[in-house]
Amino acid sequence: MKSFFLLLVTFCFSEGLFAQNSYAIIPQPEKLIPASGSYTFQSNSTVTVVGSNAELTSVAHLLTDQLKAAFGLSLTVKPGTMKSTGIFFEQNNQLGEEAYQLSVTPKKIAIQSKTGKGAFYALQSLFQLMPSQIFSVTTSNQKPTALACQIEDAPRFSYRGLMLDAGRHFYSVAFIKHYIDLMAVYKLNTFHWHLTEDQGWRIEIKKYPLLTSISSIRKESMVGSYGDMKFDKTPYGGFYTQEDIKEVVAYASKKFVTIIPEIEMPGHSQALLAAYPQLGCNPDKIYEVATKWGVSEDVLCPREETFTFMQDVLSEVMNLFPGQYIHIGGDECPKKQWKESRFCQDLIKKLKLKDEHELQSYFIGRIDQFITSKGKKMLGWDEILEGGLSPNAMVMSWRGTAGGIEAAKLNHDVVMSPNNFFYLDYYQADPKTQPLAIGGNLPLSKCYSFEPDLPELTAQEAKHIVGVQANVWTEYIATPAYAEYMTFPRALALSEIGWSPKRPKNYAEFLKRVKSSKATMDALKINYCNEDLK
Ligand code: ACM
Repeated sequence: MKSFFLLLVTFCFSEGLFAQNSYAIIPQPEKLIPASGSYTFQSNSTVTVVGSNAELTSVAHLLTDQLKAAFGLSLTVKPGTMKSTGIFFEQNNQLGEEAYQLSVTPKKIAIQSKTGKGAFYALQSLFQLMPSQIFSVTTSNQKPTALACQIEDAPRFSYRGLMLDAGRHFYSVAFIKHYIDLMAVYKLNTFHWHLTEDQGWRIEIKKYPLLTSISSIRKESMVGSYGDMKFDKTPYGGFYTQEDIKEVVAYASKKFVTIIPEIEMPGHSQALLAAYPQLGCNPDKIYEVATKWGVSEDVLCPREETFTFMQDVLSEVMNLFPGQYIHIGGDECPKKQWKESRFCQDLIKKLKLKDEHELQSYFIGRIDQFITSKGKKMLGWDEILEGGLSPNAMVMSWRGTAGGIEAAKLNHDVVMSPNNFFYLDYYQADPKTQPLAIGGNLPLSKCYSFEPDLPELTAQEAKHIVGVQANVWTEYIATPAYAEYMTFPRALALSEIGWSPKRPKNYAEFLKRVKSSKATMDALKINYCNEDLK
């Protein structure tokens, strides 16, 4: 019996039923057993939360809200007991935090989970068993059915992230919420919000109002290819008030998405210096918010005043974001100004440091201590390894996987975000056919091919790889429509790598499911790149 079951599962996942696109769920569940028939939601279907569980009840309401919006069906949610017909949500403490079981038969839908989050992910799978109309807000005459099957599912990694750079270009609160909605459909659970850059500071800090009145606005922006050095002569700005941030954080929590804010230091700080030049190495310099892309040499100077300032900023940030992690950047900090600064050279001597890299490590270490003292954890790009890694830090490996491998060997947790697989600002098709992008070559197939279980790591070290993330840097991405285009469909590959169990890669099979997910993306009105999906 057991071997028959294994055979059936193997058949389903290899070519059989998935190839017909009947069960085209992305990310692919850990285990799915097809069954015949389907469940049809009726106007008298009952939605029951077994026992009475507030978390499951609020997720059950997400189901009834979506059925109402998409199909005009008004169902109510009630506490009660398990019966043989209807829709049921039931707590099962044997399951993991994000795991769920979903059973769909012609008579009944039963969802089991330990948490609301697990139930939410069961819903996301259920929706992908339904006509794509379920993702639409215009009601139609399609029948609200769900394909019968049994699913047991849990994520491979706890961290499944997407980063959006709101520094180079500003994205409205409405778009950020929409982006979070789309992430949740594909079971991505972490939104990394890149909030400060050389070209713009985007978060209100009450103690330092010039960060928004000065640092959030640049006098013009670079347009076209970098080599052309053309500028649009048009001021550009925008920032999120603390009320905006609270609204987005509350919204994201309903979609079980944690937000990690990124406040860059000591590099990528030119916009900050435009308002507070005393924090630079040359306080007499006239700094301005950067107008061209690339890495600025204007960096923070590791004076006590700078630490006080950044700690004040981080204190306000930590009060706004309830998540565990605060991202402090740490990447691309040119050392030229530190080399030329009498203060920095004296500090290097006083602290008996070897060089400017150790000074960077000292900077990051001070910030790490502060964040840790507030009960939070620091996350930084892999440059935070240079000159010695702070004891509590988690590393985001972007310059390939080397930094992540090194950090994991040092017993630090790691998010794998290698540029050659997960930089979604890179071209995804022949540049001649695409809008202007930063460069690179990252088709869907390449993105999908990333395997986080790296041969360089022992099984013990590999436990430090907590997940994966893709990044949307926006120098060349000025509109929400273009941001969506660069994100989709590649975010589907990210979702599959982050969630689905390690299986032999089968791009052809994945691509079939992505193609059948076009109906979902269309219903969600995602402006995805169709290049590989024709
Ligand atoms: C980065 O791309 N500078 C993290």
